Amino acid sequence: MKAWICPRYGAPEVLRLVELPDPTAGPREVVVRVEATSVSTADARVRGCRFPAGMRFIGRLALGWRGPRRAVLGTDCAGVVESVGRDVRHLRVGDSVLVVRGAAMGCHAERVSVRPRDVVLRKPAELSWAEAVSLPFGGQTALYFLRKAGLRRGHEALIIGASGAVGSAAVQLVALAGAHAIAVTRAENAGWIRALGAAETIDYTSSDYVAAGRRYDLVMDCVGAGSFRTMRHLVKRGGAYLAVAGGLADMLARGSGGVRCVTGYVPESTDAVEELLRHVREGAFRPVVGSRFAFADLPAAHAHVDSGRKRGTAVVDVTSLQRPAPTV
Ligand SMILES: NC(=O)c1ccc[n+]([C@@H]2O[C@H](COP(=O)([O-])OP(=O)(O)OC[C@H]3O[C@@H](n4cnc5c(N)ncnc54)[C@H](OP(=O)(O)O)[C@@H]3O)[C@@H](O)[C@H]2O)c1
Repeated sequence: MKAWICPRYGAPEVLRLVELPDPTAGPREVVVRVEATSVSTADARVRGCRFPAGMRFIGRLALGWRGPRRAVLGTDCAGVVESVGRDVRHLRVGDSVLVVRGAAMGCHAERVSVRPRDVVLRKPAELSWAEAVSLPFGGQTALYFLRKAGLRRGHEALIIGASGAVGSAAVQLVALAGAHAIAVTRAENAGWIRALGAAETIDYTSSDYVAAGRRYDLVMDCVGAGSFRTMRHLVKRGGAYLAVAGGLADMLARGSGGVRCVTGYVPESTDAVEELLRHVREGAFRPVVGSRFAFADLPAAHAHVDSGRKRGTAVVDVTSLQRPAPTV
């Protein structure tokens, strides 16, 4: 099978398309033929050895010193079950599935071996491959942080970076909870972000919302626009600053003035992805496919993610461009 590997840290040009042996399914594993995968900010960060502030040393210790130990990147994929181990009961050959491997990666390949601890769920028919693979990365992250912060009906939540994978999911989850999402984004993205459920938008290129004096129950910083130290004055007493892209300083920050700093590494969770899929089935959540790339052009998807300007998810079509999903 063909797979993209990252032999050393660097620019997208370090990536190599290589031939690897096809995986086989162990007794409790399944092999999935990949239809679509994504290039997430996690993939681009690992490839470029770009860790949150203060985390570079520990990041290289954990992932590999000169290059990632797990050379095939890719946190998520969607595809068709091709073979099933003898002890697997819940999946059959031919099932359409969504696979979330998270930090274990390995999805930038034509085939992926799915282990018992990976999240693997049936893909609902109403989602295209591209839409399915656009769901978990941003959705799980937004759900994890909003839950940990105690999002409640009626809350006002400022979402900084609302056009990204995490931010666009957060806007929808905040609206679903009966809270008010105030989306910080460029004016050109305001229309589709309001359509996702934002109550208000603030154009960060023309408005200094940090100095405006308004306060919110939750401030969810999806881009590292600030830190707990520089943003806590935006949060009401009893509220929280959600440091989604936070570095070591935010992790060590203790709450002050009745404001908490919420940080963490988001674990892969079957329950979380199931909850997101339930919202999709109920027509209450829409994964945002921002851009699409052919498998042969995967480095271009990395370059797009590196730009910091991607909307929603950058999808890579591994087999063919089937029914094109709507892009924003
Ligand atoms: N803690 C965890 O476990 C965890 C898990 C997942 C992701 N993350 C982190 O979460 C962050 C967000 O990930 P993502 O995939 O959502 O990123 P992304 O898709 O690249 O989102 C960034 C978006 O924010 C916009 N933006 C950039 N600067 C902005 C600013 N100053 N104010 C408002 N909007 C701005 C960009 O568009 P424009 O520039 O066009 O406005 C872009 O659409 C990443 O740093 C990622 O590493 C952390």
